[in-house]
Amino acid sequence: MTAPSPDSTNAQRTVSLIPGDGIGPEVLQATVRVLEAMKLPFRYEWCEAGAEVVNKYGTNLPRETVESVLRNGVALKGPTGTQVGLGLPSANVGLRKALDLYASLRPVRSVPGVKTRYENIDLVVVRENTEDLYAGLEHIVVPGVVESLKIITEKASSRIARFAFEYARRNGRKKVSAVHKANIMKLSDGLFLDCTRRVARDYPEIAYEEVIVDNLCMQLVRNPEKYDVLVMENLYGDIVSDLCAGLVGGLGLVPGGNIGEQVSVFEAVHGTAPDIAGRGLANPTALMLSAVMMLQWMKLPDQAARMQNALMKVYSEGRVRTPDLGGKATTVEFTNAVIDALA
Ligand code: NAI
Repeated sequence: MTAPSPDSTNAQRTVSLIPGDGIGPEVLQATVRVLEAMKLPFRYEWCEAGAEVVNKYGTNLPRETVESVLRNGVALKGPTGTQVGLGLPSANVGLRKALDLYASLRPVRSVPGVKTRYENIDLVVVRENTEDLYAGLEHIVVPGVVESLKIITEKASSRIARFAFEYARRNGRKKVSAVHKANIMKLSDGLFLDCTRRVARDYPEIAYEEVIVDNLCMQLVRNPEKYDVLVMENLYGDIVSDLCAGLVGGLGLVPGGNIGEQVSVFEAVHGTAPDIAGRGLANPTALMLSAVMMLQWMKLPDQAARMQNALMKVYSEGRVRTPDLGGKATTVEFTNAVIDALA
């Protein structure tokens, strides 16, 4: 699998690392241990972001962190916490906007040996990452009435549609489904669909269909095998990604990449998991698979395959599992097993 990436055979070899909050430092440390065991020619630049650094910097997204990612072109990131209700805007949303990481790419695959209700799931969620209700444009009209603006533009919709079709073409995918609610949001989701339809015409070898988001959720639970590449606006993408994670065994297993024209940030779909943070129980697989995506993006396919194969070997053997998958292994024990499995 490869993501559309800049032609960077002279790829950057310094990687920005953003531990984030909650289980972020635990899963990032685990992932870096595997990368180090692989003796990759990388230098690492540790950066800060998230709720934990607000007191130090007065912001959850210090300028130095954005500059580091811009300079290096690539980052591996743990989740960052965001307060519900009032408080600072999300560091994540800030980073995606500041670096124009317009596409969120989330491959969802069954993992060998992890028993779920479904077998052989292999679908990809492509989520627009810069606009929609995530623009954060909210205000109180009068006390008791709040307005939140959903921004959809032709530029961002066409760009994400093209990303999805390019991804499908480069990775031998057969179908792109555009997910929407244009029956209700006729103008905004209508514009999104106009754009996806127009882009679809340039890819005659790839089937194109449209599906309403509520129906999609039901179909995904009944027949997930029907889907291949799903492209959607920001909020639907957020929700549908978690649903898809549930199909293959949970949030501990699903990786992601936030892709821009020149810069990309790789991070798991999951959040900071405050319920298990600091206890050594987190499953680092999702971030390790995000690192696999990063190696592919950096045009290091052999190294990516090596890391992926080690992970899949540990799962196929079934002896070492973290508690989210019914096992007893700690994050460190799981990581040791992956390092031992490196061919
Ligand atoms: P969450 O993904 O952190 O946790 C949901 C459930 O999944 C919890 O029971 C958790 O223990 C479990 N889980 C998640 N990742 C796991 C892993 N690697 N291993 C084992 N179990 C795992 O979602 P929640 O609780 O809604 O969000 C917590 C915080 O994370 C919020 O502040 C939210 O804003 C933030 N968040 C950040 C993201 C990011 O930085 N990319 C993405 C999603 C949420």
